[in-house]
Amino acid sequence: MSQHKKLSVLISPGNWNPEPWVEGLSASELIDEIHVWPTEANLEKVELLLVWKPLPEGVVSRLPNLKFLSSMGAGVDHLLGDSQIPKDLPVMRIVDKYLAIDMTNYVMMSLMIYQRRYHQLIENQKNNVWGRLGYSKVKVGVLGLGALGSHLARQLVKSGFEVYGFSRNPKELEGVESYSGKDLNAFLAKPEVLVNLLPLNDYTKDILNYDFFTKMQPRAYLINVARGGHLVEADLIRALDEGLLKGATLDVFRQEPLPSDHPFWGRDDIIITPHVASVTTPDSAINQVLENCRNFLEGRPLNYLVDLARQY
Ligand code: NAP
Ligand code: GLV
Repeated sequence: MSQHKKLSVLISPGNWNPEPWVEGLSASELIDEIHVWPTEANLEKVELLLVWKPLPEGVVSRLPNLKFLSSMGAGVDHLLGDSQIPKDLPVMRIVDKYLAIDMTNYVMMSLMIYQRRYHQLIENQKNNVWGRLGYSKVKVGVLGLGALGSHLARQLVKSGFEVYGFSRNPKELEGVESYSGKDLNAFLAKPEVLVNLLPLNDYTKDILNYDFFTKMQPRAYLINVARGGHLVEADLIRALDEGLLKGATLDVFRQEPLPSDHPFWGRDDIIITPHVASVTTPDSAINQVLENCRNFLEGRPLNYLVDLARQY
């Protein structure tokens, strides 16, 4: 690396706080200027764009020297199909151990609430009832065995769950009964609780629909922690009302924040959380970004690239 070469960065943080990113990046010898969108500053030197949702209209045309772009989270659905992004621009995403750990912990919490009948325990306490509730083994299916899904599946095995997994290509994970490709229906027939950890794209949008629910075990439970666009919301309500599904924990929604008059609110069979299952830890993710900055400056290949044709 040339002694003096440094990168200029633009951060477009959406509704996230840019401060920890600015602080972390400015402490690095690899970084020159840091701008935060929106800005009137001259952005001609910017080579790296860090972006959380959405990619603002017109931002890329302000960056004539842009060399690569990174989502500030794991998902890249906010970048797919955006005509502002040149076809040959490398796009990366965050693959971070804390994203995986936090997601696993969130799903584990949801599973415990479900398996240990936590709501009933609290209800009993309110009524001074010493109700010793039983619980049974739960079979869990993980849809999507990528950075987050494979970490979750492994931890579930360690915690004694019977685990099934589904991915696009065949995967071998110790203790996990894995399915792929055309075997979706065989996979869906197995678990009592299904966790969605797919990327959202043209191939996966609306995948959690009524027909899909009919392929699951009767009275199965859904945990959707991937994206709201995977779920056909009216189909979930129908499946719950008909008793096809027993309940759902939802962290992501088609419209966020979830509108206050949305029919999901107030349902006893749906647990709602405000897209908090796993939020990027800047201190840790910045190391990954800096690693790629160094790769770029030293002419090495970039890591954690997204295949925009494959859409994840
Ligand atoms: P990833 O590493 O890209 O993994 C994606 C997995 O899905 C892979 O196993 C892939 O199969 C599989 N897959 C992709 N397309 C498929 C298809 N059409 N049919 C079946 N399987 C398919 O993604 P990740 O880092 O684990 O993240 C997953 C998603 O979680 C993100 O895209 C984001 O939307 C969501 N997320 C949510 C939160 C939250 O707080 N709620 C936080 C972080 C991330 P192969 O292994 O065969 O490629
Ligand atoms: C959060 O939703 C992420 O994609 O990182």
